[in-house]
Amino acid sequence: MIKPLEYDRERGTVVVLDQTRLPHEEVYLQLDNFDQLVEAIRSLRIRGAPLLGLAGAYGLVLAVRECEGLPDFKDALMARIHVLVNARPTAVNLRKEVEEILSDVNLDAEPYEIAAMVFEKIVELEARLQEDDLRLSLYGADLLRGKTRILTICNTGSLATGGIGTALGIIKVKHQRHDLKIAYLCETRPVLQGARLSAWELSKEGVPHYLITDNTAPYLMSLGEVDAVVVGADRITRNGDTANKIGTLMLAVAAKRFGVPFYVAAPTSSFDLSLESGSQIPIEQRDPSEVLMIGGTRIAPESTKALNYAFDVTPAELIDAYITEAGILKAPFDEVV
Ligand code: MRU
Repeated sequence: MIKPLEYDRERGTVVVLDQTRLPHEEVYLQLDNFDQLVEAIRSLRIRGAPLLGLAGAYGLVLAVRECEGLPDFKDALMARIHVLVNARPTAVNLRKEVEEILSDVNLDAEPYEIAAMVFEKIVELEARLQEDDLRLSLYGADLLRGKTRILTICNTGSLATGGIGTALGIIKVKHQRHDLKIAYLCETRPVLQGARLSAWELSKEGVPHYLITDNTAPYLMSLGEVDAVVVGADRITRNGDTANKIGTLMLAVAAKRFGVPFYVAAPTSSFDLSLESGSQIPIEQRDPSEVLMIGGTRIAPESTKALNYAFDVTPAELIDAYITEAGILKAPFDEVV
């Protein structure tokens, strides 16, 4: 299994597979301070909602280590935590995992004790990420039995979760069960998580796939070439509205028009029941240069400006069901286990 993020106990560093350099180079970075980790999150070296939760937990370890010995330990730590949980605002997992760990940790303890408690939580979290992925992938593969042509967007595989993946995990299990003819991967402009990352993962595992430009998806559906669309999620609200990679809404609208079932696959840790609907989800806008350039080459005139919404919100009415580790759910949600 690909390990996108782990801790090197001997060196005391967080080891990150730099996802900005894939698929051409497999470079592992050794991060030994808090600012480096925050930079890795902001620049998408580490990405994907569940993995961002784990990155948050490691950020906590680095923050505690850096604040140790400062006279205002608690204030300095809280300032770093604020920076950490806001590094990427849309994926709820980042804030949620950090807050959940903090609620179990006594911040009045000695810093080395706090770090030890956080490490204990990290071990549990890593195991949970893997178990959730596997469970939901099995549920998803059961639900989609006989549907052999699956279309997806972005990267929801091991690179995004540390486990088998969510939507991509379902595709992998279906392949293992000989129940997959083809996975259609939207390239996922602007930064091409589909072309660079999902294609890399599926190539490594021998899963048949076609890369398509994002705007090919509705046409493929109109031709009757897609049996189901399965996507991941960065945040799901009480009414079922779902924030996910920009382009997801376009897929959901097209799927409804052409009668193709549309599923969201996500662990329950990506649900945010404190929010009533998708209009309350903070949507990250990123640097316009990601849209204006491809692979370091500018594609638009120097004077052209760009909008770069990293996510969109798909209304619940366009989503047939939510595939989670707790089973197949339907919106709205009073609670998720
Ligand atoms: O900007 P990214 O690459 O972090 O966006 C990732 C997605 O939108 C994924 O679909 C989502 O986080 C689910 S990953 C299992």
